[in-house]
Amino acid sequence: MKEVIKIEGGHRLNGKVTIGGAKNATVALIPAAILADKSVVDIFGVPDISDVESLVELLEALNVKVTKIGEDHFVFDTTNMENRDLDIDAVTRLRASYYFMGALLGKYGYVKMVMPGGCYLGPRPFDLHLKGFEALGATYVYDQGYYTIKADKLVGAKIFLDFASVGATINIMLAAVLAEGRTVIENAAKEPEIIDVANFLTKMGANIRGAGTNVITIEGVERLEGKPHDIIPDRIEAGTYIIMAAAMADDVTIENIIPHHLESLTSKLIEMGVNMEIGIDSIRVLRSDDLKSVDITTQVYPGFATDLQQPMTTLLTKAEGFSSVRETIYTERFKHCIELQRMGAKINVATAQAVIQGNGPLFGNKVVATDLRCGAALVVAGLMADGETEIQDVYHIDRGYDDIDNKLIALGAKIRREFVE
Ligand code: EPU
Repeated sequence: MKEVIKIEGGHRLNGKVTIGGAKNATVALIPAAILADKSVVDIFGVPDISDVESLVELLEALNVKVTKIGEDHFVFDTTNMENRDLDIDAVTRLRASYYFMGALLGKYGYVKMVMPGGCYLGPRPFDLHLKGFEALGATYVYDQGYYTIKADKLVGAKIFLDFASVGATINIMLAAVLAEGRTVIENAAKEPEIIDVANFLTKMGANIRGAGTNVITIEGVERLEGKPHDIIPDRIEAGTYIIMAAAMADDVTIENIIPHHLESLTSKLIEMGVNMEIGIDSIRVLRSDDLKSVDITTQVYPGFATDLQQPMTTLLTKAEGFSSVRETIYTERFKHCIELQRMGAKINVATAQAVIQGNGPLFGNKVVATDLRCGAALVVAGLMADGETEIQDVYHIDRGYDDIDNKLIALGAKIRREFVE
């Protein structure tokens, strides 16, 4: 038996939806919490997603005490923490388990863990993370699927990233906050999640400047102490609901967001003719017909987010004329297009690019969520389609979308889960 999501398409959406804490900040903040020396860390706004469950398993394997208080408040107690080899399944369930490399290396000078997993989006090397650790004085061995990284002592260094990688920027920060002396990360990534992690580490006693710019400077400190932190809202979850609303709203308000983080999306939607009112911490989307085609190129922040490229592709099937989507971050991130074709979408996929012929109806069909944001693209498609859509491999969606079924039901969508053969 496998779990599927079934959506009866064509129902207009109305009402309000509240966005949760950012997944891609959360999955770094939880490993960052282990840097707290024998103390308690309170994190608020933790989304109810399966990636968090996997990270909690990893913390428990390290003997960190995890307590959940209320809906979204977690307490992590590192008093009895021990550095153990991470060879449990949870490591391979998500990409972000690699943040334990930086955090454990920074704290103990030694980490051994199995190769991390996560969505397949084409090759996802982590050479830049390793290059950063080496620059700080660590050595690593990769043997039989395990990374062993160690250092007698980490010493600050100047590190130029060949690509402004989100993961490498955060991982090097995690390793460097307790290193001796100054680390400078050049060509650092600028995503809001990086600022959130830097703010959290700073509250705990770290000395970090420049997060959110392309040069981050870290002066190593001797000790970090647990402090409370509130996670920023999830710009990708928010963007996904804005796209759903652009497709199907009569009147939908997306709340608890930072509109500034979404400007690359909202500017494209305005270009398409989506009827939106942008507030201070919310966006209201009104019924939007006669959408126009647009061209999109994914880029590092503040450019158009690759994570929203997939749900956006679905919306573009509704726009008049030809739109194009070009990927510069993950050139193979187009599996959703094959699934959308099964629903009648007219999309040509070439190298790192898709061309969408819009204004064609979508029809319900059986489709597969091949990765997290492909799943989101298919939910958007299911809401738009004539008839019923069955989405398989929904565990991908549950890795990153907090309570998606109930949030959509509250907006008037007809969506349910079933177990099928
Ligand atoms: N890259 C390298 N070497 C490295 C690291 C990255 O070549 O050592 C390349 C990647 O192959 C890719 C590009 O650099 O082509 C960007 O990778 P980045 O390191 O920035 O991505 P990431 O840290 O692995 C995070 C998010 C992704 C999001 C990307 C880009 C997390 C846990 N994941 O991944 O989120 O797509 O940044 O913004 O933060 C998702 O949420 O669905 C998701 C995949």
